[in-house]
Amino acid sequence: MKVLVTGGLGFIGSHTVVALQEKGYEVVVVDDLSNASITVLEGIKSITGQVPTFEQLDLRDKQAVHQFFHAHQDIAGVIHFAASKAVGESMKLPLEYYENNFFSLINVLAAMKHIGLNKMIFSSSCTVYGQGEVMPLTEEESIKTALSPYGNTKQVGEEIIVDLAKVYPLQAVLLRYFNPIGAHESGFIGESPQGVPYNLIPYITQTAVGVRPFLSIYGKDYDTADGTCVRDYIHVVDLADAHVRALEYLFKNENTEQIEVFNVGNGQGYSVLELVHSFERVSGIKINYEIVERRPGDVDKAWANTAKIERVLGWKPTKTLDDMLASAWNWEKKSRKY
Ligand code: UFG
Repeated sequence: MKVLVTGGLGFIGSHTVVALQEKGYEVVVVDDLSNASITVLEGIKSITGQVPTFEQLDLRDKQAVHQFFHAHQDIAGVIHFAASKAVGESMKLPLEYYENNFFSLINVLAAMKHIGLNKMIFSSSCTVYGQGEVMPLTEEESIKTALSPYGNTKQVGEEIIVDLAKVYPLQAVLLRYFNPIGAHESGFIGESPQGVPYNLIPYITQTAVGVRPFLSIYGKDYDTADGTCVRDYIHVVDLADAHVRALEYLFKNENTEQIEVFNVGNGQGYSVLELVHSFERVSGIKINYEIVERRPGDVDKAWANTAKIERVLGWKPTKTLDDMLASAWNWEKKSRKY
């Protein structure tokens, strides 16, 4: 079966392409290469021995998207990753974020509808919960006003899909990711942020190789055990597996609702300091850090209740925090020839 992965050369996309190929799917990737490198195709080939069909495509271009879908009418399902994803950047570039994330989603959905394709997995985020009240967070937690244009694109993206499903027999799974980290154990693919990393793990690994002089820890006065923020970190390989299972669930028509929502996390919270100290233990390298001001928009804690995805999709996280940190460290060293 043929599966389209939009944003398939990005961090989560590339790991999902590998997981799909390993399950025997024929994968077609589109990516505009705005935040990914064409060399990721070689990384994928080094792992699976196969290069996915690739087309460089800007999904904001409605005509090009329609042409693409017309040329690939045998696609059975779409995993839609392609989007701008940096919270901080979205505060500076709101229009670009709304344009890219909404136009791309709308164009893909419209083209799917046009050719009668109806199975989609959408990348959503735990950001839709804002500061949740009760930990761990279930899918029933209320949706809070988004704190950033990026977060808003995830909330409204979910609504667009729900609204389309009222007038079109769309079958979709919305996966609300917690904090994806780590890399493929081979070290052939991983996370490659452009410029100064916004996220914690690439900042830690870049500090460890000496690219950054020190890590800034944003705040030590949060309502948590050690005062630093607590997050639920999920290995990108486990997250990729959740996508494959979600798609197969739709392929087998096992879904009872047109739109199903699942949290994807490890179900356990770790503080920033716990993460730093675990990394030091795993890598044997001391991380220079400083405690600085809180970062605007950060919630004090978020971790997932994953009972629903375990029950319905039979998915379970298989990787430990040490696996996540070791693989991220292996990737950083390998990609920098450290
Ligand atoms: N952090 C630091 N120093 C850094 C980077 C991060 O202390 O240099 C801290 C943050 O303050 C936070 C934790 O590390 O407490 C994790 O931060 P990340 O930037 O790695 O990830 P976020 O928790 O901010 O990201 C999550 C989701 C996103 C979502 C976002 C919304 O992964 O999809 O929350 O706030 F958009």
